[in-house]
Amino acid sequence: MADNTKHPKRRLYGRKLSRPLTAERQDAIDSILPKLSFPTDIFEKETAVPPASYFSKSYKQYICEIGFGDGDHLAGLMKQHPDIGFIGAEPFINGMSAFLTQMKDEGLSSDQVRLWMDDGIKLLEKFEQNSLDGLYVLNPDPWPKVRHHKRRIINQEHLDLFAYLLKPGAPLIMTTDVDDLAEWMVTQASNHPDFAWTAKSSNDWTKPPPNWIETKYEAKGKSAGRKQTYLIFERN
Ligand SMILES: C[S@@+](CC[C@H](N)C(=O)[O-])C[C@H]1O[C@@H](n2cnc3c(N)ncnc32)[C@H](O)[C@@H]1O
Repeated sequence: MADNTKHPKRRLYGRKLSRPLTAERQDAIDSILPKLSFPTDIFEKETAVPPASYFSKSYKQYICEIGFGDGDHLAGLMKQHPDIGFIGAEPFINGMSAFLTQMKDEGLSSDQVRLWMDDGIKLLEKFEQNSLDGLYVLNPDPWPKVRHHKRRIINQEHLDLFAYLLKPGAPLIMTTDVDDLAEWMVTQASNHPDFAWTAKSSNDWTKPPPNWIETKYEAKGKSAGRKQTYLIFERN
């Protein structure tokens, strides 16, 4: 069973707020987020929880995105797959408010998503085994200095957690436009006994998978000349 007491002092690195929110975005945080957020009393439960039990309807699959930024990709997935329930974690309030505003503007169903405005790892540590059908970690913070590599979200300990949560055959999808981080993520995931890289040729990591939803972050990187790497691993 996942043990959420394992890292009671886990630190979340990075920004939580960059610029003040507009009134519309603040309203989205105050009025929409509380209805869609996992409750904080989830951490008081003694046993692991099925994420599906926090949705108001039943979905055929449950897929999670950690660190969704402004949520372009998450919103795109919701539109592509109305029969899948999504879980999104993003501690950055500007990102969360952008996603909620997009949901409202585009009329996306609030049944279809549950959110967490804090450390996604902490939330995942509370979920029960084999409860996820897919996990996206897109353009995670690169932490370029060697002494900060231990902050990188893809590491053996987190891969243990992802392997525990993902059903056999479920994908772990990671991207980055930082070459050193791409190499790091390939090495970390390839060295993990529970994950297998699905790539057969370089096209599989240099070209986006079919129906790929590009985030603003990815588009900005590409127009600055950076190349995006797409890494798809499968839970054995
Ligand atoms: C470089 S941005 C990429 C955003 C988005 N995935 C994209 O590709 O456009 C990385 C994001 O990960 C979020 N993040 C960092 N650590 C996190 C954690 N432990 N749990 C959830 N999100 C996290 C940051 O707040 C930031 O928004």
